Amino acid sequence: MRMTYYDRVAEAAAFLKARLDLPAPPLAPKIGIVLGSGLGAVAESVADAVVVPYGEIPHFPQSTVEGHSGRIVAGRLGQTPVIVMQGRVHFYEGYTPLEVTFPMRVLGALGVRAVVLTNAAGGIAEGYRVGQLVLIGDHINHLGWNPLCGPNEPRFGFCAGAGLRFFDMTEAYSKALRALAAKAAQEEGFALDEGVYLATPGPSFETPAEIRAFRTLGATLVGMSTVPETLAARHMGIEVLGISCVTNLAAGLGAKHLSHEEVSETGRLVERRLAGLLTRVLPKMATHLERQA
Ligand code: HPA
Repeated sequence: MRMTYYDRVAEAAAFLKARLDLPAPPLAPKIGIVLGSGLGAVAESVADAVVVPYGEIPHFPQSTVEGHSGRIVAGRLGQTPVIVMQGRVHFYEGYTPLEVTFPMRVLGALGVRAVVLTNAAGGIAEGYRVGQLVLIGDHINHLGWNPLCGPNEPRFGFCAGAGLRFFDMTEAYSKALRALAAKAAQEEGFALDEGVYLATPGPSFETPAEIRAFRTLGATLVGMSTVPETLAARHMGIEVLGISCVTNLAAGLGAKHLSHEEVSETGRLVERRLAGLLTRVLPKMATHLERQA
């Protein structure tokens, strides 16, 4: 018989649990991190790292984008156990919404209860500077699809009250986690603005007219990822902290034409700041999760 999507997630999770030698929940790492374009080097700061390339994991989609290496790195960032996804897959690569959210489902099945989703984004708001990190306060789904369409799978409700057909998105990006991130940034000596991330399918960058329209809609950041993962995470009851790196001013706002090279280069310049922020915020997140348990 054909395996269901849930079965494939369970098989990938069982494989990783064995390969990463993870304890069963509730002792498994509770925090997952997804590293976006050009931000992958943060994984190099993981201590006692066990690395598994996506290609070795049953059913796992492969990243085809330069700057996305495509491997799981499990270990500790500072003192906090984490499962890091170094590289993600996108709709524009030809993956289906279910494939795009498969890795997030696997993190849920492994016992992850909070995720940090990072991405490269174009800055729309006036005053954003290239290289700035911005907290995602909310999002606008401009993809034209939702990965939750199709039969509901209640077994993905890994937390109490989750796995519902209709689920709340009023606080998609956890207010508590945003406060912890703002505090961590302050301790690191920089301020974190909060923005609204609008997701487009890509792969083309936007036209200046589209950017003006998105600004009118209330977006301050634009990118091609994160929103599907947030939707899957919230369906599972996983808390989300979203962090965008403004790798470029959005189309029509800067003097330059946009390129993937610029996006990747800026990402690389910001990696150290991001690693510092993560190292500070993770213990706070771990304490927050313990209090909730
Ligand atoms: N638009 C869409 N996605 C992006 C951008 C952008 O300007 N920069 C980085 N990812």
